[in-house]
Amino acid sequence: MRLTLRTTEREVAAAAAERVAEVLAADAAAVLGLPTGRTPMRLYRLLARLGDEGALDFGRATTFNLDEFLGIGPDHPGSYHAYMRQHLFAHVNLPSARAHLLRGDAADPERECERYETDIEAAGGIDLQLLGIGANGHIGFNEPGPCLCARTHRAMLRPSTRRANALFFGGNAEAVPQEALSMGMGTILKARRIVLMATGKSKARAVARIVSGPLTTRLPASFLQLHRHVELICDRAAAALISDE
Ligand code: F6R
Repeated sequence: MRLTLRTTEREVAAAAAERVAEVLAADAAAVLGLPTGRTPMRLYRLLARLGDEGALDFGRATTFNLDEFLGIGPDHPGSYHAYMRQHLFAHVNLPSARAHLLRGDAADPERECERYETDIEAAGGIDLQLLGIGANGHIGFNEPGPCLCARTHRAMLRPSTRRANALFFGGNAEAVPQEALSMGMGTILKARRIVLMATGKSKARAVARIVSGPLTTRLPASFLQLHRHVELICDRAAAALISDE
């Protein structure tokens, strides 16, 4: 696991943007896996700017988002569809037919999860999977528990995860859906390359446990230890509890 330490959140976003640029420079038709949440907002602003300047071309790229809330449609303002339109898709030349997200309003959620797995495979798999991390160590909506799911699945959200997402629902955690659809751990680990961004002190414990803790379903991100091409990009606050041993 490669550890990249930066001082500020802004520098974390810049380092992650460099990784995206590298991947697109190597293959303009690369497949990117994308997170939502607070952490990638700066990254998406940077990518939009690079796109505007003509330094980044998404014209042949494909994207797959990690997750979506269950029970809400793409036009719901709290949906990750809306988030992606607002923060990235409206600003770059990614063809909408190649911007893939799970449908939270699918009539048959289990079937929707299967469709997603099939679509990822048909696109040739994910070249670069970008990730954020929950304070409890979740990635995507793979929450800590006695077991984890390998494939895209229907997931119950922890109360802390619903609280963390309240900002997308007018500040009201009760309005955040209780369930979501999420790529599974196997889906994520199949990506050829993974970059996890962590910023802020609320992520410090989880980050330290990924680096030196045991592999455990109680900290889903610890499974990244099994991947051969993972980079953790952290700001100073998120890296604060990593020990030097
Ligand atoms: C969202 C996702 C989640 C977030 C995590 C951190 O698509 O996959 O795992 O990355 O909840 O969220 P923030 O960045 O808001 O702290």
